[in-house]
Amino acid sequence: MSKLTDKSIVITGATGGIGAAIARALAADGAAITVADLSQATADTLAGEIATAGGKAIGVAVDVRERAQVRAMLDKAAEAFGRVDVLFNNAGIAQTRPFLDITEEDWRLVTDVNALGVLLGMQEAVKTFRQQAEAGHPGGKIINTASIAAKQGYEPLAHYCASKFAVVAMTQAAARAFGKEGITANCFCPGVVATPMWDVIDKGFRDNKLTTKENEAFDTFAATAVLGRASQPDDLVGVARYLASSDSDFMTGQSLMVDGGMVFI
Ligand SMILES: NC(=O)c1ccc[n+]([C@@H]2O[C@H](COP(=O)([O-])OP(=O)(O)OC[C@H]3O[C@@H](n4cnc5c(N)ncnc54)[C@H](O)[C@@H]3O)[C@@H](O)[C@H]2O)c1
Repeated sequence: MSKLTDKSIVITGATGGIGAAIARALAADGAAITVADLSQATADTLAGEIATAGGKAIGVAVDVRERAQVRAMLDKAAEAFGRVDVLFNNAGIAQTRPFLDITEEDWRLVTDVNALGVLLGMQEAVKTFRQQAEAGHPGGKIINTASIAAKQGYEPLAHYCASKFAVVAMTQAAARAFGKEGITANCFCPGVVATPMWDVIDKGFRDNKLTTKENEAFDTFAATAVLGRASQPDDLVGVARYLASSDSDFMTGQSLMVDGGMVFI
């Protein structure tokens, strides 16, 4: 038995680099995972892999910008596993744009996924948690993936940073709003993690002639971590496990830096 045995945990962006690492690890801990991402097929593939390894998982298609889809995701998780204990709002996108080139369309694209998506996830999760409380099962945990970009403004990622600052703000507001109901909201802040997202960021640096070589932006950012290397997705598993388990029950409204020592706050 682990502290996560039979916990029903929903993860958005669950087939991406960080989400998949968390999904696999928490499933191995005994949690029942709802693998939620844009593609049903990809979500089903990861859920199948978890099941083959002896874990419990279902795949669900969700676009986190759409409230009805977020609602359906949580309902499917509750239907499959009896309830929802934890929601990871982890889906996100990045875009490299020099400050003066950010368009209204860029702003809306990035903030719709990274900020609105988190707001909708938190709102719908609280509705689920309240229904469960009426049925005698109070509480619930919301865990948001923020970033070092939630603590520092980086050029040329201003709109991405704004969306991640928003995640911290909403986490703190939700913690204050729902604490008395035993519902907690926390976030963790990765640094430079080797995932498909960084391929996009790195290409954006080259496309905008800010760097010339592949991985130059990635290596330059990663070199600022005092632990001396870029993160791998598995580096985020420990904090995810802690925030999802009862070990973090008396903590809410917090942002935990897990960046190898890039940003000290
Ligand atoms: N990679 C890093 O260095 C880094 C650093 C700090 C924070 N983060 C954050 O970590 C989270 C996970 O990122 P990652 O690095 O694993 O990237 P990734 O690109 O590997 O995964 C992101 C996942 O989100 C999904 N997604 C995108 N838009 C969606 C939408 N509208 N609805 C549902 N799912 C959607 C994608 O399909 C993908 O599977 C993101 O919130 C990201 O901002 C990443």
